[in-house]
Amino acid sequence: MIYLDNSATTMLKPVGVAEAVANAINESGSYARGAYTSAIWAGRTLHEARKEIAKLFNLGDNQTVAFCANATTALNTAILGAIEPGSHVITSVLEHNAVLRPLYRMQQTAGISIDFLPADDIGNIHVEDAKRLLRRDTKALVLTHASNVTGNSVDIAAFGKFAKKNELLFIVDAAQSAGSIPIDFNNMNADILCFTGHKYLMGPQGTGGLCMKKSTRIDPLIYGGTGIDSFSHDQPINYPDRLEAGTQNIHSIAGLLFALKFINETGLENIIARKMALFTQLYMGLQTIDNITIYGDIYQKERTSTLSINVGDMDSSTVSDILSTEYDICTRSGAHCAPKMHEALGTEKQGAVRLSISYFNTERNIEETINALSAIAF
Ligand SMILES: Cc1ncc(COP(=O)(O)O)c(C=O)c1O
Repeated sequence: MIYLDNSATTMLKPVGVAEAVANAINESGSYARGAYTSAIWAGRTLHEARKEIAKLFNLGDNQTVAFCANATTALNTAILGAIEPGSHVITSVLEHNAVLRPLYRMQQTAGISIDFLPADDIGNIHVEDAKRLLRRDTKALVLTHASNVTGNSVDIAAFGKFAKKNELLFIVDAAQSAGSIPIDFNNMNADILCFTGHKYLMGPQGTGGLCMKKSTRIDPLIYGGTGIDSFSHDQPINYPDRLEAGTQNIHSIAGLLFALKFINETGLENIIARKMALFTQLYMGLQTIDNITIYGDIYQKERTSTLSINVGDMDSSTVSDILSTEYDICTRSGAHCAPKMHEALGTEKQGAVRLSISYFNTERNIEETINALSAIAF
C-alpha cells in the first residue's frame, strides 16, 4: 500500500509510538487523582508532553498548552469560549468545517456576524482584504495556518500584526501546519493556536490541544472534575486546568510525547526538507502530464506537502477509487470538509484528488503514483 492521505491522518508513525501507547496502558494511573506511582507517572507524561509542545512551537513563560481530543475540540473551545457574542468576526474561505461550523453556530445562537477573506486564483489570502473588511465592532480573526486542500500557507506574521494593531482576538488553526511549517507562537501575535496530534505531529488519534497566553480568557467547553478545587462550583480559574475537565487521554498523550521527541530530536527542518523533496518530485512528475490540473501556490516558499489535482473532467472520487483499487494508492477525493475553498477553486462539483506526503513516504512511492496517474490520464 502507498499511503498518501497524511493530511487526514498519518498512518506511518515513528517506530516506538505504538509501544509508548501500550506501555502507558500498563503504567498510567489518572493524572491529579492520586499520589501513588502510576498517578505520578501520568502527571509526568502530561508535563513532559507540554514541555515538548512548548519547545516545538516556541511557547513563552506566560503561555501554556491545554490538551484535548483533536483540533476540532480545540477550535470549538476557542471559538465558542473566547469570541464575544454579538461581535463581528473575520475568517477566510480557506477554512475547514472545524472552524466554519462553530462560527455558524455562534451566528445562530450568539448573534455574531461573519465576513470571509477571499482567495486569489492560486488560493492565497491577503491582509489588504482584512483591512477592507475591518469594522468598528470586529473583535476576532480566525484563520487556518495552512489550507488542507492546496497546502498553501497563510502569512500568519502579517495577519498577526494586523490583529495586534486592531486589538483583535486571533485564533489560528494549525491542524495542517503543526509538524509541516515552523511555528513560533511567542512571536506570531496569535492568542490561541489549535493543533491536532494525529496528523503531521505523527502521534495517535485522540490527541490535540490549544496553545494560549495564560491571560487569555476562554470559557470551558466541558465542565467537570479536574482533581483540584473540588468544592468550587466553577472550573479552576487557572489555565490549562480550567480547560482540562475529565480524565486526560494519557495513553495516547504518551504516544504523542514519543512522536514529539522524535520530531524535536530529528529536527523539524530536516523533516520539512524530506517532505518537500518528495513534494517537488511529485509536482515535477505530474506537471508534465497533459490533462492534469494542479491547484494552489506550488512555488510558495513555506507550504505543506499536500497537493490537490484533477484529471480532466473526471470526478475526483472516480480517480481516487481507481488509484485505490487498481494501484493500492490511498488518496482523498471530494470536498475535504473545506466547502468554501472548493467554491473558490471552482471545484465544488468535481472535488479534487488530494495527495498528501509524510516523512515516511519514499521516492519509489512517488514514482509509482506519478506512473499510475499518468496511466489514468492517458
Ligand atoms: C485545516 C484543518 N482544520 C481542522 C481539522 C480538524 O482536525 P481533527 O479532525 O483532528 O479534529 C482538519 C482535519 O482534517 C484540518 O485539515
